[in-house]
Amino acid sequence: VADGLQERFDATIARDQRIEPRDWMPKGYRATLIRQIAQHAHSEIIGMQPEGEWITRAPSLRRKAILFAKVQDEAGHGLYLYSAAETLGADRADLTERLIEGRQKYSSIFNYPTLSFADVGVIGWFVDGAAICNQVPLCRSSYGPYARAMVRICKEESFHQRQGYELLMTMMRGTDAQREMVQDAVNRWWWPSLMMFGPPDDNSPNSARSMAWKIKRHSNDELRRRFVDMTVPQAEKLGVTLPDPELRWNEERGHHDFGTPDWDELTRVIQGDGPCNARRVERRRTAHEEGAWVREAALAHAAKQAARTAR
Ligand code: ACO
Repeated sequence: VADGLQERFDATIARDQRIEPRDWMPKGYRATLIRQIAQHAHSEIIGMQPEGEWITRAPSLRRKAILFAKVQDEAGHGLYLYSAAETLGADRADLTERLIEGRQKYSSIFNYPTLSFADVGVIGWFVDGAAICNQVPLCRSSYGPYARAMVRICKEESFHQRQGYELLMTMMRGTDAQREMVQDAVNRWWWPSLMMFGPPDDNSPNSARSMAWKIKRHSNDELRRRFVDMTVPQAEKLGVTLPDPELRWNEERGHHDFGTPDWDELTRVIQGDGPCNARRVERRRTAHEEGAWVREAALAHAAKQAARTAR
């Protein structure tokens, strides 16, 4: 490393200023960012599937329009994030290859099935709620392009969270059967949502370094606790029960106590053995193959434009 580069990088981090694409950065910092941003981008793109399956079955034109907008937002988030990864020297086509070959991860949460329309509401409430808890602090992440991408993503995630909660409020005012659908979806999605925050701190190999580099601002357990504290009063207002007998307010700590997620399940799902992993990756592969002609046409058009300008 040339003289002073490491010191300048360290000082920028210490001052809470941003690292930008042209700045020198340690190899590990670059690799960690590419890993996290690529996984994040893949999650947004794979995350279009569980809810996308309900677009043709939405119960009204209004619900369909909302769901359409939401799923399109996820595609947009994936694109900003792939662009952020490209500022670090990654290649988007290569990242996509890695995803469909199972060499790069995406969030465990998108490997669970969506069994009823209430799942659309619960995903908005829990999954997008968890995404907000996790991602608002990432707006202060030390890498400029990632932090800036997060600002718009978080605004859109707030809309997603609210549409989910509003959908559930409507169902809870409906029939007994609708209320049962909501409770069933809550029961199935609660624990996988807590797992989204990652393994517990004492088993999170990347956390210490990512926090020292201020890529991550809070630990996995800290964000998980915040999510629980935020969600419990919302569940009460909605009139549903969160499926955790150990969940209770701890007056002394000023936070909720809650049970332990099944960490073996998280490991299995991350390793590819969740209920829908194979289906999700296969769908992504098919979409990529079916889109080949669009990429070829865009490249041919760009080449023609370039030849015209060069003339
Ligand atoms: N699903 C899949 N993989 C996970 C999950 C999860 N829920 N949690 C952790 N992992 C993986 C990590 O990516 C890491 O794998 P790797 O080292 O092979 O890359 C391994 O498990 C160990 O975990 P940690 O050391 O805790 O990893 P990290 O410090 O990266 O923390 C976290 C994980 C919290 C997910 C972090 O990467 C992060 O904040 N990412 C940005 C947010 C994000 O990706 N959200 C996606 C879902 S939100 C949405 O799209 C709606």
